[in-house]
Amino acid sequence: MQRSCLAIVLAAGESTRMRSSVSKVLHPIAGRPMIAHVMDSLAAAGVTDAVLVVGRDGAAVAKAAQRTDMRIETVEQTERLGTGHAVLAAADIIARGYDDLLVVFGDTPLVTPAPLKEALEAIAAGSDVATIGFESANPGGYGRLIVEGGELIAIREAKDASEAERAITFCNGGLMAVDGRKALDLLRRISNKNAKGEYYLTDLVELARAAGGRAVAVRATEEELGGCNTRAELAFLEQLWQARRRQALMLSGVSMVAPETVFLAFDTQIAPDVLIEPNVVFGPGVRIERDAVIHAFSHLEGAHVESGASVGPYARLRPGAHLAENAKVGNFCEIKQAEIGAGAKVSHLSYIGDAFVGAETNIGAGTITCNYDGVNKHVTRIGAHAFIGSNTALVAPVAVGDGALVASGSVITEDVAADAVAFGRARQEVKPGRAPILRARYQAMKAERQKK
Ligand code: UD1
Ligand code: CA
Repeated sequence: MQRSCLAIVLAAGESTRMRSSVSKVLHPIAGRPMIAHVMDSLAAAGVTDAVLVVGRDGAAVAKAAQRTDMRIETVEQTERLGTGHAVLAAADIIARGYDDLLVVFGDTPLVTPAPLKEALEAIAAGSDVATIGFESANPGGYGRLIVEGGELIAIREAKDASEAERAITFCNGGLMAVDGRKALDLLRRISNKNAKGEYYLTDLVELARAAGGRAVAVRATEEELGGCNTRAELAFLEQLWQARRRQALMLSGVSMVAPETVFLAFDTQIAPDVLIEPNVVFGPGVRIERDAVIHAFSHLEGAHVESGASVGPYARLRPGAHLAENAKVGNFCEIKQAEIGAGAKVSHLSYIGDAFVGAETNIGAGTITCNYDGVNKHVTRIGAHAFIGSNTALVAPVAVGDGALVASGSVITEDVAADAVAFGRARQEVKPGRAPILRARYQAMKAERQKK
């Protein structure tokens, strides 16, 4: 039978060292709040019930953690008296009776499902407490895991540790699974008689053992258990997250020339055989399909690039940009809420917003869709196989039919029918022999000025 599990997510910290006006768990990694990453890992570990222990920004934290595949409740920890005290804030929910409890921290966003599952398996196999530890060359302020003969004997907080204990390099990541049937009784026995005067969750190990139970430590990497206390640590976690995701994408078949210069969002989807050149930034909501090329220095957000399409160098795709197969958006072009049809080209220096561009149409250099009248946005529709000459301003709402040709330098304010040719510019006049006369007049003006 499936065991029931309640995850308890501790997120009541003051975030003092972040020097932030909002709770640190709301700060983003890869464009989404840290806490959402934690919830992701819980869901991937099979957790369906969770309780958030919040302090400041409770409503915002609950909103950031929300997801459809989990039942999530929120409890407030009004005084911050330690991790053991924080878990007890959820006492009423724990009392409903779960087989397993899984305590995680809201500020440990890189944890993967594997050690969470392993800790839960240890509880299923008969342990009362299973903590998640890691080896560290710099164990510093971490709690130390004291292991003897495969059993976890105790967790000693750095401030309470003897010199010999401080020499231990096996550290407590802070996350732990606990037997849900015994948890409340054990949690209520935690005292605050220690160096920090806090209720330490870590005391559960010795308390469980004193009651005749077992504790174990499962291992994870230091990388995935890294916490976030400062903006510098936030940037470091971002770096680790980016490295992890780039690696996964490359292993899935995506080419990156200089992966360390490519920045991905939490939901970036890139198909195999896509080439990403150096210095590309992905905001949220981007999907790139097979054989597309994203050239250097491009910025994409909320965009869908179909197979064989080419973007940049120096292109900006904003939300709602959709490049159909083999479309091309070249240098210094901005595309927003616009459909660029299959094989269509927007090669240089253009703004295409709130627009439809048909298949195989060519948009000349410097074309601008004038989509905004200062109050409202309007749509530009351009058919298939059309040609828009360079430096054309398309004043929306306006439509250009299939196969139509717009002369360069036009300001198009009225619809152009299919196969029509439109000129929207002043006619050129040429006056033969007039240049020397003008030049002489200008020179006389200059001489007159210099006399004064
Ligand atoms: C804790 C562990 C330590 C471990 C370290 C790993 C304890 C006693 N110690 O120490 O062994 O090596 O994590 O990073 O558990 N929180 C609340 N309410 C509270 C106290 C804490 O919600 O009253 C939350 C914090 O916001 C944070 C988490 O619990 O997300 C951990 O608390 P923190 O004070 O950072 O614990 P550490 O001293 O780092
Ligand atoms: Ca901490």
